[in-house]
Amino acid sequence: MKIGVVGLGHVGLVTALVLAKHGYEVTGISKDKKKSEMLAKGEPTLYEPGIEEMLKENLKMMIFSTDYGRLKDAEAIFIIVPTPTVNERIDLSYIREAMEGITKANKKGVVVIKSTVVPGTAKRFSGEFGRNIVSNPEFTKEGTGLEDTEHPNRIVIGSSDEKSGNLVESIWAFAKSSVVRTTNENAELIKYASNAFLATKISFMNEIANLCERIPGADVEVIAKAMGLDERIAPYFLKAGLGWGGSCFPKDTKAIASFGKELGERMSIIEAAIKVNDDRIGRTIELAKKAYNKNNSLMGVKVGVLGIAFKNNTDDTRDSQAVKLVNRLIEEKAEVGVYDPKAKIDAMDNVKVHKSKENCIKGSDIVIITTEWEEFADTNVLAKGKPIIDTRRIISSGSAKNLYAVGIG
Ligand code: UGA
Repeated sequence: MKIGVVGLGHVGLVTALVLAKHGYEVTGISKDKKKSEMLAKGEPTLYEPGIEEMLKENLKMMIFSTDYGRLKDAEAIFIIVPTPTVNERIDLSYIREAMEGITKANKKGVVVIKSTVVPGTAKRFSGEFGRNIVSNPEFTKEGTGLEDTEHPNRIVIGSSDEKSGNLVESIWAFAKSSVVRTTNENAELIKYASNAFLATKISFMNEIANLCERIPGADVEVIAKAMGLDERIAPYFLKAGLGWGGSCFPKDTKAIASFGKELGERMSIIEAAIKVNDDRIGRTIELAKKAYNKNNSLMGVKVGVLGIAFKNNTDDTRDSQAVKLVNRLIEEKAEVGVYDPKAKIDAMDNVKVHKSKENCIKGSDIVIITTEWEEFADTNVLAKGKPIIDTRRIISSGSAKNLYAVGIG
């Protein structure tokens, strides 16, 4: 079966790879010529464990191109393009562009929207372009995208046309996951509700972490562990830290909050979760001032920032809390040095980019761990007594005198 994938960002690429692995002939379309040329040669366009190998192994099942015409014979075409939030509202222009390109090339294939879109989007484009659209949101995390796509907890399929829904369900049959068949609108909202709930869970724990910091003897990690043993709470997404970033939670929480407002429903819990997340940066600056303990100022202080990616196992820096922290440190007139094992850091002004964590730590008066890369676990040994702010709770020994960890009283 021939399948098209329009958009070759993280989700587009892992979807294309997993489908190719399971025997589908996949045509991936990206308007970025360099990207499609690289992928056609078997060169990965982003970092995530396993992607490079999987691309090489399945290359013969895949075509990468900028030309929508290559989708001519596809039986199903997945749209996996960005849906950014612009001025607090979702921007659907890339979806429209994809719909136009697909419709010119292929009138019969089932169009599937996998991008995150506000409820009503599939119906709207379905009416405009005169074809059925299936909503099939994804629940894939960067860093573990291949595994999440191949074995998702659940597959959600929204459609108003049973036959199109059946086709999409059959495509994912290899995953052997629970399938929820529903309306397009429910499918679209399930995605937002899931992301907003996960983001809220993290913000909730960050608020508990704030409280712990005022209680000698309290530790948010112990509290999260015990809470997670309750099956109703579950142990996932309870890790307090620098807050959530990336290309999904920040934009999706804003989009659903403003969507609710437009419909006359204030999403006050989601708004609070966003506020708690935004406050993580200021709190970390305050913690750094306390740790350095010199005139309550970071002016001229050499701050080493370990981690720029928005989470570990990715090179993605989009909406990274670490980048926001670096910018705030610069505003505070600190001298900032950074290191990240994978992220590209060329776009940061006034920042010294180190090639190793050792150099970054050596050149600093104070160190802040901002991304949960495993290799930062030995920072305490390398820092030789310098103050360390562990915003990701990567260092296991919480008792060192120079260690200021999030959520410890
Ligand atoms: C998120 C969702 O987890 C996916 O289910 C969804 O498919 C995806 O968005 C999307 O909409 O495309 P992602 O943003 O790739 O995935 O990564 P997460 O693992 O969710 O991490 C997001 C942020 O939350 C990171 O900055 C991470 O450091 C932070 N986080 C995560 C915490 O601070 N604490 C936690 O317990 C978990």
